[in-house]
Amino acid sequence: MSKKIRKAVFPVAGLGTRFLPATKANPKEMLPVVDKPLIQYAAEEAEEAGVDALVFVTGRNKRSIPDHFDKAYELESELKGAGKTELLNKVQNVLPANVDCIYLRQAEALGLGHAVLCAESVVGDEPFAVILADDLIRGDDGVGAIAQMSKIYERYQCSVILVEEVPPEETHKYGIVEIEDDDGETAIITSIVEKPKPEVAPSNLAVVGRYILTPRIFALLKQTGRGAGGEIQLTDAIAELLKYEKVRAYRIKGKRYDCGSKLGYLEATVEYGLSHAELGDDFNAYLKSMAEKL
Ligand code: UTP
Repeated sequence: MSKKIRKAVFPVAGLGTRFLPATKANPKEMLPVVDKPLIQYAAEEAEEAGVDALVFVTGRNKRSIPDHFDKAYELESELKGAGKTELLNKVQNVLPANVDCIYLRQAEALGLGHAVLCAESVVGDEPFAVILADDLIRGDDGVGAIAQMSKIYERYQCSVILVEEVPPEETHKYGIVEIEDDDGETAIITSIVEKPKPEVAPSNLAVVGRYILTPRIFALLKQTGRGAGGEIQLTDAIAELLKYEKVRAYRIKGKRYDCGSKLGYLEATVEYGLSHAELGDDFNAYLKSMAEKL
């Protein structure tokens, strides 16, 4: 098995119903937090972890994602002509030159598991990362979640799933894991179940949008029928994977913003705004003045 994670899959074919009508003609992964779309934060996180192939699984209305990562000749020449060098750099450096982008299509939104299976032909027989861009994660000490998880993969050579404790009454929104041999950082997963009601949930440790998976998952996804919500669930295939291989849970070191929900998105916007190099101070002053009026 390869020692390094070189490919990352970005499933971006969901319908984004929680964000309608903003997501009617635009994927939710293109929603900006301050001045960058969610998908760019996710791509940068992968690139920082040493990934050199980004595999996007797109659906309807997903033209804007390839457009975002593509060269924008007209815009670049306008900016160049106007001497706006700083903006030109921002547009040109959306991704480093050594990173490849590959676009695949999920014809029908049959679920996250199905979206990941669509990437099989490109990923092949290698371990790979899966990044759900609507979970925006700011890693502690500037180290992104995938870079943290890659270290765990390199140490144990097995699949690694990012988890976080959630309030027990919210287990029905997540995949939930049961673990053993917990050293406080990583543990072995003994069971995993999609969206259990709080009364039957095995714990309150929820899977959040980052996975490093071994390629055996593809064969298992092919056998996975429709599960919770009538969708082909990645969680169900991981439950099968547990019968063949060890799978580890890794506790997030950092903060996650659920940008697929309106409240999470607003929280991210406020916190990223406050720490933004250009506007952080002004935004801080504005928020203080607002707070005085509340
Ligand atoms: P979500 O569960 O957030 O679903 O998908 P969604 O359709 O995007 O959003 P809501 O719940 O209707 O608001 C989790 C991730 O899986 C991708 C989504 O793009 C998101 O990154 N996904 C989901 C697919 O790529 N294909 C699918 O068929 C379903």
